[in-house]
Parts: sequence; structure tokens; C-alpha cells
Amino acid sequence: MSFAMGLVGCGVMGRRHVIGMKQLKAAGKLNFDLVAVCDIMPANLEKMVDHAEELLGERPQAFTDFDTMISTLKLDGIIVTTSPEMHVDVAEKAFAAGIHVMVEKPITLTVAEGVRLVEAGKKANLKLAVAENYRRDPINRLGKALVDSGAIGTPFLATQESSGGGEFVIITPWRHRKDRGGIVIDMGVHYTDILEFYLGPIDTVVGMNSIVDKERTDAQGNKHPVDAEDLSVGVMRFESGALANWLLNVAGRGEGLFSRVIYGTGGSLSIPGDRSGKPLRLVQRREGKDTPVEDLLALVPDFHLDEVTAALFKGDRLATYDLPWAEIDANLLGIEQADFVDAVLNDREPEVTGEQGLRSLALVFGVLESELLNRMVTLQEILLGEEQPYQDEILRGMQA
Ligand SMILES: NC(=O)c1ccc[n+]([C@@H]2O[C@H](COP(=O)([O-])OP(=O)(O)OC[C@H]3O[C@@H](n4cnc5c(N)ncnc54)[C@H](O)[C@@H]3O)[C@@H](O)[C@H]2O)c1
Repeated sequence: MSFAMGLVGCGVMGRRHVIGMKQLKAAGKLNFDLVAVCDIMPANLEKMVDHAEELLGERPQAFTDFDTMISTLKLDGIIVTTSPEMHVDVAEKAFAAGIHVMVEKPITLTVAEGVRLVEAGKKANLKLAVAENYRRDPINRLGKALVDSGAIGTPFLATQESSGGGEFVIITPWRHRKDRGGIVIDMGVHYTDILEFYLGPIDTVVGMNSIVDKERTDAQGNKHPVDAEDLSVGVMRFESGALANWLLNVAGRGEGLFSRVIYGTGGSLSIPGDRSGKPLRLVQRREGKDTPVEDLLALVPDFHLDEVTAALFKGDRLATYDLPWAEIDANLLGIEQADFVDAVLNDREPEVTGEQGLRSLALVFGVLESELLNRMVTLQEILLGEEQPYQDEILRGMQA
């Protein structure tokens, strides 16, 4: 039986998802058919239909209105690649029509919307997956296996620090507007997901944030106003007691920075930038001396990538790989798509559930809320939403 998929939102990410489908198809792992695409902007829609036909060999049906799409066709699932403020509306309508949903990160614009969406999925007994791609990188899979094997002893500290971007628009101007999902949320959810992927649940966060650039310049030289933070500095604590050092500087000039290092009682693991294919660096503390370890795979003899990842990256025990960025990116999107459909077909949870996507969002909002609350905040209280001055501002802006 074939699985009928729709894709809603034909911008930058929608087009990248179709390249992911092409990669799955080439590897013999495409477990669905893209039968329909939808976008409210006719120009983006037309471009997408051509793009899909060229890459997949079939022309999907095109709709400028989601309601019409789901009343015309019997879809099994959709991938939502609209900008974040539209995620909840589209996904709730899909659930009401009996359609499974994979939504791009961040799950929704606000935590309250995410809570609503997770509940809607459960009530309808339909799958809700969040398209979180970074953890699917084969290098992160190996890194996780090494941490779990005890290669660095008991982890007590993780750093997640990055700097770059300067005074320019990052991909789209909406990413610099609070009421559309600002850049700290947009990028931050990847990093809270990866921190929890490596070291388990985070329970408490605290931070300070600022807006360095009040306007940003796009590729054509046009200026765009900014009201969303572009610098976020914080600390997080895992349930295990380990700490994380958090730095997201999207206004970075000068030297670029990416540092993700996990420190344990038995050494350190340095993790390269996601989608780089670069190797991990492990240093073990042996008899009081720090000793670099070369053959990482030898430490995890049972480590294997899952079948889809192994097919796309051509190997099931990889410590490094060398591919163009666009191909790496497409492979990771293909992996999450195949996981979503397989979860539906086999009635299991997708790897990144709605609840997990919601945690990632709530943790980044926690860093923003904590500054306005002038104290540390727990994940639980952000999920409950009793005190949320930062998100209240977003809601006031949307109502104005
Ligand atoms: N995982 C990643 O690496 C990654 C990278 C980029 C973007 N994203 C996520 O993907 C999503 C889309 O980002 P983007 O950069 O493609 O944005 P974009 O602005 O380029 O595209 C969004 C598209 O959605 C359309 N749209 C808006 N409302 C709609 C509606 N109600 N029905 C149908 N179409 C609608 C817009 O017309 C536009 O074409 C965001 O959630 C973003 O955070 C993820």
C-alpha cells in the first residue's frame, strides 16, 4: 500500500525536503509518494511543482489553499514546512482530517501552541513528528554511542557555543521578528535537542539575551527591522546533575566559533559542526595523563547506523565522511521523512516526537523568560506557562 504524502510550505525548506526525497528514492528507501504540495504564494508553488517533477519524476497536484487540498485528496501524512507561526493551524486541521503530521522545527511559535498540538495529536490518535535533523548526522550517532559506552566516564559538562552571522539577514527576514519565531528560537531548538540527545533531559535553565543589530541587511542590500534577540548566553542543568554552557551569537563578527564538547570524569569528546562530516576528537584520561584516541570505532564494536542512514551515507560504521553540504543536508531530511512514515506504518513513535520538539522549544524560551523573570526557571514551569512574560509580549504583538 502506498503512503500519500502532502507538503505544505514551498519555500527554502520545502524545496530542501524534496531533495531529501530524491536521495531516499536513489537509495531505494523512499517509503511514500509526494502526491500534493501547497503554498499560499503561487510563485513558490509553481516553482515547487517543477522542482518535484524534475527530482522525483512525478508532478504533484498543486494547491494554494490547505483546506482545499485536504478536502480534495485522501492524504496519509503531511510535512509542514511553513514559517513557524502557521505550524499549529495547519497541523491541527490535518489532525481533524485524520492525517499524520511531521512539522518542521520549531514545533510551533509558542509553548502554549505546542502543548495544544501535542494534545490534538494524541486525541486524534495520530502521529506527530518534529523534523529535527542535526541528531541524525552519522557523526552525532557515533558520538552518542561513545558517550553511552562510557568512553569519557561520567559526563558532567557540555558546551554548546557558536558565533557568526554578522549584521546580515539569516536566510529570511522573518527570522529576526519575535512574532514569527526569532533566530535564537529558530537555531536554538536544534541545540537544545542535541544537548538532550547526548546527555538526557534538562530540567533548569537561566540566561541573558540581547539584540545587537537593530536592523539587518539582506543579499540585495535592503535593510530589515529586527525585534528578536540575536545573542543568547546561558547555563542549563541536566537531570543527571551535569551542566551545559550555552552561547548562541548570531551577530558574530570576526573569528567564527563552534564548540560542542562533552567533558566527563574519564576525558572529553569534541563534536564537530553538524553536517560537516568531520571526525570526533576523543581524549581519554589514562593514569592521570590525557591521551588522544585514534580508532574510535574500536571502542564501540556493536555500533551500527540504521538501515536508511547507512544506505544514504554508504556505510553503517562511519567515523567521518566527505560529501557536499547540500547532499548531507538532503540525506538528513530523507532520514527523518523515512522515520516518520515508518512510525505511521508500524504504529510506533517517531524518533523526535511532538513532546521532544516541545521540550526543545520550551528550553530556549526558558533562557529568554528567565531574564525577564530575573531567576532560574524549570522546564516544567515553562511547559505549564503560568509565568511567561517573554511569550506574553509575542502574543500582545500578534493581537495588536
Ligand atoms: N531543519 C533545518 O535545518 C531548517 C532549515 C531551514 C528552515 N527550517 C524550518 O522550516 C520552516 C520553513 O522555513 P523556510 O526557511 O522554508 O521559510 P520560507 O519563508 O522560505 O518558506 C515558508 C513558505 O511557507 C508558505 N506558507 C506560509 N503560510 C502558509 C500556509 N498557511 N499554507 C501554505 N503555505 C504557507 C510561504 O508562502 C513560504 O513559501 C520553518 O519552521 C523553519 O524553522 C528548518
